Amino acid sequence: DNTLEVDLSTLTPGQNMTVQWRDWPIFIQRRTSQMLAALQGPAHIATLRDADSKILQQPKDATNWHRSVRPEYGVLVGICTHLGCVPTFEKPGSAPEAKGGYFCPCHGSHFDAAGRVVQRAPAPYNLPVPPVTFLSDTKIRIG
Ligand code: FES
Repeated sequence: DNTLEVDLSTLTPGQNMTVQWRDWPIFIQRRTSQMLAALQGPAHIATLRDADSKILQQPKDATNWHRSVRPEYGVLVGICTHLGCVPTFEKPGSAPEAKGGYFCPCHGSHFDAAGRVVQRAPAPYNLPVPPVTFLSDTKIRIG
């Protein structure tokens, strides 16, 4: 069985947790309304390499502006699309620029909370989105 069930009930708004699925780190974030607003800002969108994720597409039910099944939860494969390091979460409010995205310490790629990479980062693609099914309001299945 290649699926993983995850309980989201301990995840508070603005937090990120990492689980393992198929040997990959999977980031699960619970988004605040500010995080969701940040994803939609035109100035922010203009900084992205592939804002609509046309290059590396996500499952159909996550093909939307928030790249997830439900806007308030983001689920991403936590492997930098440059050379495979694991990016770190930028907890909203922990620094002036921290809006709940990810930063790869290896060569400095920035991803937003929807896993979209900024232009001029060495990473060529957005972070992949795995298949996600909500089993209840606080439980998902990945895979
Ligand atoms: Fe992430 Fe190079 S591996 S920027």
